[in-house]
Amino acid sequence: MRRRILVIGIGAGNPEYITVQAVKALNRASVFFLPNKGADKAGLLHLRQEICGRYIEGDDYRFVEFDIPERSKAGVYKSDVKAWRDEVRRIYERLLAEEIGEDETGAFLVWGDPSLYDGTMGILESIAATDAFDLDYEVIPGISSVSALAARHKVALNRIGEPLTVTTGRLLTKGMPDTGGNVVVMLDTQAGLRALDGDIEIHWGAYVGTEDEILISGKLRDVCDDIERQRVASKDENGWIMDTYLLAPPKDAGKT
Ligand SMILES: C[S@@+](CC[C@H](N)C(=O)[O-])C[C@H]1O[C@@H](n2cnc3c(N)ncnc32)[C@H](O)[C@@H]1O
Repeated sequence: MRRRILVIGIGAGNPEYITVQAVKALNRASVFFLPNKGADKAGLLHLRQEICGRYIEGDDYRFVEFDIPERSKAGVYKSDVKAWRDEVRRIYERLLAEEIGEDETGAFLVWGDPSLYDGTMGILESIAATDAFDLDYEVIPGISSVSALAARHKVALNRIGEPLTVTTGRLLTKGMPDTGGNVVVMLDTQAGLRALDGDIEIHWGAYVGTEDEILISGKLRDVCDDIERQRVASKDENGWIMDTYLLAPPKDAGKT
């Protein structure tokens, strides 16, 4: 059974983050698989529908919604994620078997860029490896939340000639990575921020690119309270939050 799938990066929140290549890809697909993450995150589902309505010519396409299971947080992080991905993979296999015809092209609309903290490509690759489907998939890059954050704050991500590390809020609780240079933090838990050196410069952004966007920057010691306050208040108001931030250690940090 041949299945043609497009994995389309849709940018991280602003419908105008869509690239020309993504618009062309949207117009090649006829079945859009939309993850349903519950009432709290209904806005994310609507944004995907809005993007299709806005950029696809004509109405010869359909949506297939599917429920995304909650990931267990009871065990070891990596095995919880693996179990969750296996579950999502079974859902994808059902979608490919039941919801798309031989001559149709399906699409997954991936938030931001598909290469950054997103399992879609990995899951499709593991399905392709099983021979259950003759799977032909293509990936269209998108504007990640990291690019959007840097643009909104008008800052470069790295300092001249220095590395840039992208990490998670969970790992930051163990302290700043020892890779040197600036650090971008995603999937935040906010738990690690307060323990860091107050001289670190932070560029923080929540809901970047959307109408709810909040941007704060300054030295950690000056803005940490404000970030925490905004984070709690907007999470209460919206039911969810997505924030990303850039940390720039003082220039002489680490030198003896
Ligand atoms: C599962 S990852 C997906 C990342 C996505 N593939 C990308 O390219 O940005 C979700 C994390 O991305 C970040 N994120 C995504 N969209 C964001 C936005 N509009 N504003 C701030 N952070 C965002 C947050 O750190 C969030 O926890």
